[in-house]
Amino acid sequence: MRFLIIFIAVFLFGSNLIVPIPENAPFNKQKARLGELLFFDTILSRDKTISCASCHNPKEGWADRRKVSIGVYGRKGFIQSPTVLNARFNFVQMWDGSCKNLKTQIYLPTHNPIEMDMTNKLIEKRLNSSKLYKKLFKKIYHKNYITYDMMADAIAEFEKALYTPDCKFDLYLKGKAKLTKEEKRGYMLFKAYGCIICHNGINIGGNSFQKIGVIHPIKDCVGDRYSLTHNPADKCVYKVPTLRNIALTAPYFHDGSAKTLLQAVKKMGYYNLGINIPTKDAQAIVAFLKTLTGKKPKFLKDYK
Ligand code: HEC
Ligand code: HEC
Repeated sequence: MRFLIIFIAVFLFGSNLIVPIPENAPFNKQKARLGELLFFDTILSRDKTISCASCHNPKEGWADRRKVSIGVYGRKGFIQSPTVLNARFNFVQMWDGSCKNLKTQIYLPTHNPIEMDMTNKLIEKRLNSSKLYKKLFKKIYHKNYITYDMMADAIAEFEKALYTPDCKFDLYLKGKAKLTKEEKRGYMLFKAYGCIICHNGINIGGNSFQKIGVIHPIKDCVGDRYSLTHNPADKCVYKVPTLRNIALTAPYFHDGSAKTLLQAVKKMGYYNLGINIPTKDAQAIVAFLKTLTGKKPKFLKDYK
């Protein structure tokens, strides 16, 4: 039923289903500068080799190119790292939606034994023995002792700064840019095939839970909603990933099983729509998806 309603909505309001990223979204600049330092600092991991940026690397679309991430002591994860660009616009965080916001999310990677393997106590010990952090935190939080909570607050504020306005497609929606014929055709096909049913809103995804394998089921989905809720209906259900900056974040899917965007588009057609999308159409959709790469967040210095 829900599907049908969305389907009708697509036909009635098709073009309004994708909303541009705002030019300016609110965040606290001072905290974000401090959060930036922490995001790149390996002292937040037990063996001091891993920072948030190890798996959310600016050079790799703020995600990583591996199928699964690698944490402290070379420990292997089990799921593909998503981008943190525009994560602030996701309705919940993580593939399984287990975190309600960016700040609470930070507890998971910092404490996960296969990621950073820390405790609140150890984080506080490390931060409080740094003269630089003592000074910086005091300036902003007016406290002599740095807590885990203050650290998470600052990093979350930095993540809020990571939004990417003015991609070609947003400019097109605002009447400020023209798409090529191929890009336009890709956008039409994106709507006509029904991709937009699940990938819509400000993040072109990130606003609902959906299944992978609606038509052709997939076996063994790790880290899905089911592993959280144990409700059989949640098997292979994930937060729909954002398609913003998608050209930067190969490989694709929770298991990194698609190496290229073309493969990802074809797989989506097959598993979720039951269609073998012809290569020419899939290529046009890829051309459209490439118009979703936004400008580097204004807040950032140049990361080479
Ligand atoms: C060892 C690799 C690794 C490290 C280190 C790491 N992450 Fe992640 N991150 C991941 C993976 C993998 C996921 C997806 C996990 C899942 O959904 O089950 C993820 C998910 C996220 C998400 C959710 C994005 C979304 O679209 O749902 C955010 C936000 C995030 N990480 C921020 C951070 C921050 C902040 C840090 C540092 C405190 C950090 N990560 C450290 C690998 C890592
Ligand atoms: C029924 C909902 C639904 C439909 C329809 C749908 N998708 Fe998806 N899409 C998802 C879900 C859920 C995932 C995550 C699947 C996974 O990781 O295993 C996803 C993942 C993707 C990814 C990979 C994103 C990443 O970061 O790894 C791309 C690209 C994509 N979809 C494009 C499309 C295109 C193009 C279409 C139309 C041909 C489409 N989708 C149709 C729900 C949908």
